[in-house]
Amino acid sequence: MNANKNYYNISMQSIEDYDDILDKFRIINNRRFHNTTSNYALPNDEIEIGRLELSHILLKNAFGNNFSSPVHNKLRDGISVLDVGCGAGRWVLENAENYPKSTFVGIDMSPIFPTDDKPQNAGFIECNVLDGGLPFPSNTFDFVHQKLLYAAFSEKHWLLVIKEIARVLKPSGYAEFMEMGPLLHNSGPHAKKTHEKFFRYYEANGLCFDIADKLKGIMDYTKCFGEVKIENRIIATGKWGGNFGELMNIYLRMSSEASSAMMIKVINCTRQEYDKMFEDYFMEIEEFKSSIVYKRFYAQKL
Ligand SMILES: C[S@@+](CC[C@H](N)C(=O)[O-])C[C@H]1O[C@@H](n2cnc3c(N)ncnc32)[C@H](O)[C@@H]1O
Repeated sequence: MNANKNYYNISMQSIEDYDDILDKFRIINNRRFHNTTSNYALPNDEIEIGRLELSHILLKNAFGNNFSSPVHNKLRDGISVLDVGCGAGRWVLENAENYPKSTFVGIDMSPIFPTDDKPQNAGFIECNVLDGGLPFPSNTFDFVHQKLLYAAFSEKHWLLVIKEIARVLKPSGYAEFMEMGPLLHNSGPHAKKTHEKFFRYYEANGLCFDIADKLKGIMDYTKCFGEVKIENRIIATGKWGGNFGELMNIYLRMSSEASSAMMIKVINCTRQEYDKMFEDYFMEIEEFKSSIVYKRFYAQKL
């Protein structure tokens, strides 16, 4: 991508770019994936966009808001905001509508964000953050947000990305990350075994599945930030958790499906064995009343 493009006035994808987009995709077991050198482990098709939309709604409701950093007043007055790995762009779009005086930019290596139907103060750029960093000058943004990138980076990459986020933040600006788990609360023996397989799968791809346990340490290690604050939500994930728990269960089922194409290859099982593993997993979630934990980490740039 051209880093010199004016990112406040972006119309990145036009009809002519569609052929180019198709070149970037590959199909594995009927799911569409990125066709880049990235190890990113999840698909980027319509089903995945639905999964991201559902997770956005569920997490916003669980936390009661879209972010934990104390930036509401500044957003109301007008600041510059970046969302790294924005996916389908829901976080950017919603905040751009809520805060019309602020400017929101989403970047993602996969062009699944909207190009036409978006507020004037929202823009999107196709960009792989591991490929030359973020295409912005230092000290550009007042707030940088990044949500659910656990399937994207190795530990070394996390360090690079967090430093890169600190670089583009203005002094005193806020960085905020949201990540999951990695383990269920109250998990039974089968869930533990399934999680071990996930760890193996992520490790085999050089990815850091337990980033939620390491993120604060990495942020501290950069010495770029003041005190890192953490906000958690422990969310019931089955019928035992009422309507919300049932929706979380649907989301988890979509997530196991999203991982299936790549996982089946790496852990060397059949489709039937994979489905059985998750049927047992979901039964055990009900039996043990398991929950999933999401954590937000936020801090001010020094
Ligand atoms: C699980 S999705 C989360 C999307 C969004 N943050 C949300 O919460 O809905 C992770 C996103 O990160 C993007 N991604 C993965 N690796 C990336 C990279 N190296 N540079 C930019 N985006 C990346 C993927 O394309 C995907 O859209």
